[in-house]
Amino acid sequence: MTEPTGKELGKKTAAAMALDHLRNGMTVGLGSGSTAEWFVRLLGARMREGGLDIACTATSKRTEALAREEGIVIRPLDDFERLDLTVDGADEIDPALDLIKGGGACHLIEKIVASASDTLIVIADDSKLVPVLGAFPLPVEITTLGWKTTMRRIAEVTGDVPLIRRGEGEPVLTDEGNFIVDCHMGQIADAAALATALNAVPGMVEHGLFLGMASRALIGAADGTAREVLPV
Ligand code: 5RP
Repeated sequence: MTEPTGKELGKKTAAAMALDHLRNGMTVGLGSGSTAEWFVRLLGARMREGGLDIACTATSKRTEALAREEGIVIRPLDDFERLDLTVDGADEIDPALDLIKGGGACHLIEKIVASASDTLIVIADDSKLVPVLGAFPLPVEITTLGWKTTMRRIAEVTGDVPLIRRGEGEPVLTDEGNFIVDCHMGQIADAAALATALNAVPGMVEHGLFLGMASRALIGAADGTAREVLPV
């Protein structure tokens, strides 16, 4: 594993700190994104060293593939009644540890897995801490059927012009075969009200607001230190 520097070192240090929360016999959800991928690599190394016996599920096809490369057995989420812990990244983290997620288009499964977990630990570099959510465009997963209609309804709710997420000119498809729209709101004054309003839009599959779900955040810095942040 090449030793990272700068922001990547912050991600890796946060991921390494999360390893301390694992205990033998735990059931664990593996998040998605570059920080969660550090966690998967470090977890793989720890498991190969021996002495850690946990059962894992993954929040994306990409994480699942990486975990398998690392020798970690991935089981379907439905094999578990509950998970003890999920470790995942975030795009924004506010002081209450409310999150924006979905920058990697995985927030649907990430939210299902997090909500099946007794504890959600967020790992991130310190650039993800914000006073108010919303500078990062809020990802919203929608069905491909009727997507223009759904986008118009989402625009009414958010008051902005959501953009369909594209990669190489084509709309990005999630692991579940849906589209993602990104809502550029700048600041979200009332995240709970926004979540409720989005939940009422037909065709809206899942939005990237994770409210009241994270119990702690492990935040890494470019100098290779990490600290724990609890919700205020
Ligand atoms: C994917 C996510 C990721 O956790 C989020 O985008 C953070 O990714 P990264 O660690 O690469 O910054 O929500 O849907």
